[in-house]
Amino acid sequence: MVLATSFLQDNNFIDALYILAVILFILGLRGLSGPQSAVRGNKIAAVGMAIAVAATLLKKGVLPDGETLLLIVVGIAIGTAIGIPAALRVKMTQIPQMVALFNGVGGGAVALIAWAEYRRRFPGADGDWTLKAEIPSLFAAIIGSISFWGSNIAFAKLQEILPGKPIKLPGQQLLNLLLLVVAVGSAIALAAGVHSQALFVLGILVAAGVLGNMVVLPIGGADMPVVISLLNAFTGLSAAAAGIALDNFALIVAGTIVGASGSILTNLMAVAMNRSVPSIIAGGFGGGGELPAAAGGGDADRGPVRSTSAQDVAIQLSYARQVVVVPGYGMAVAQAQHAVRELSRALESKGVEVRFAIHPVAGRMPGHMNVLLAEADVPYDQLKEMDEINPEFGRTDVSLIIGANDVTNPAANNDPGSPIYGMPILEVNRSSSVIVLKRSMSSGFAGIDNPLFYDPKTAMLFGDARASVSAITSEVQSL
Ligand code: TAP
Repeated sequence: MVLATSFLQDNNFIDALYILAVILFILGLRGLSGPQSAVRGNKIAAVGMAIAVAATLLKKGVLPDGETLLLIVVGIAIGTAIGIPAALRVKMTQIPQMVALFNGVGGGAVALIAWAEYRRRFPGADGDWTLKAEIPSLFAAIIGSISFWGSNIAFAKLQEILPGKPIKLPGQQLLNLLLLVVAVGSAIALAAGVHSQALFVLGILVAAGVLGNMVVLPIGGADMPVVISLLNAFTGLSAAAAGIALDNFALIVAGTIVGASGSILTNLMAVAMNRSVPSIIAGGFGGGGELPAAAGGGDADRGPVRSTSAQDVAIQLSYARQVVVVPGYGMAVAQAQHAVRELSRALESKGVEVRFAIHPVAGRMPGHMNVLLAEADVPYDQLKEMDEINPEFGRTDVSLIIGANDVTNPAANNDPGSPIYGMPILEVNRSSSVIVLKRSMSSGFAGIDNPLFYDPKTAMLFGDARASVSAITSEVQSL
């Protein structure tokens, strides 16, 4: 028994478990690169995390007594009781706020680790805090706190507990600078060994927390996925710093992976929206969705809008050779993915070739359309990324746009005055005809008009996407 315990607590054995955990994290991340392997990737990474937690608990001194073990078991039980039902019940459209919440909890945990390390290791307590451990701890306290409080605001905006529109205070930039100076100044004072240390540690946590709120409040609700990804990168970096402070190899690697992948994802989203990360943080873009105009109306400058019926759309689709379906945020809102799959089956049974064009920022979160279409069992080889499908539009008979707007807006290619000028789009306007399914003439996320809707080869089918798609499918089946 003693032999077994000493083997399990052996540092080499624990390091071997950490290496195994890290390998599983990397394999898991690799799995997340495609919808087919994503679920498996998630499970592999979860096993890696369980091994890392077990290895940490095995370390000498981590579980000094039964009371500590009880506290940890209670903590795990509470987390499990909240986490599992929440993850099972969350709707697909609520995933961004769920990610915000989970990410925030990670940042908060890191800030608490820094606080606990301060209590445990500061001179005067039962240990000493070397600069090598102190600097990363202070970094983790600042960034973790920003991430926790910033993520809470992101969650509240997406959940509509707070208004989604930018909330700006007078002199906000100055206030933010002041808060940053207080947080960093307190950290420097602590590292320099001032007295009244507890006050300075609290100063760091409070100033960084208020800063986290202040930075996210002025950002429009619809920009939140990018902000959440950025905060996720922050949490990763703070976890890596906590890993350095604790001398925990697995935490350093896991934190660095999260920090690096979060940064890459943030950048990819910004590039796909043709916006810079600083301009997103500066806020004030989009979040619109106003301008509801009467269905079938028009714009004096742009010309009339042609509206159509489910029956006409069905005839056009049934006699097409190639149809490209372009899903967007409206398909997610209407939960129309299963109906869309039915329509594609009905068309395929008539010999029509159906493909799905996926824009990298269609919807409101990375991979939003891939997830929905995979849920509806749309074969993966029918999904085409933007670069692959764009050259195909010239040969496409009908582009069927389902609740997408900005990602098809030709102004991005030909109107230098447009706020989305330069954003890569799905070039549906090059196909022979375009059918748009949406409820009204409302703008999308960017809050701007879409000239595609006034193009003579475009016809609009107004209504909820799911009802419209089901009506078209019935008509196709009756032909
Ligand atoms: P949007 O441009 O936002 O347009 C969605 C359209 O769906 C709206 O015009 C709306 O028109 C329609 N709609 C809403 N509910 C509907 C329903 N029940 N039935 C039918 N239509 C409905 O969407 P998109 O083309 O997917 O573009 C995404 C936008 O989000 C881009 O501007 C992108 O930059 C931005 N964004 C994306 C991400 C990520 S990571 N995906 C992150 C942040 C921002 P009606 O109201 O008239 O129906």
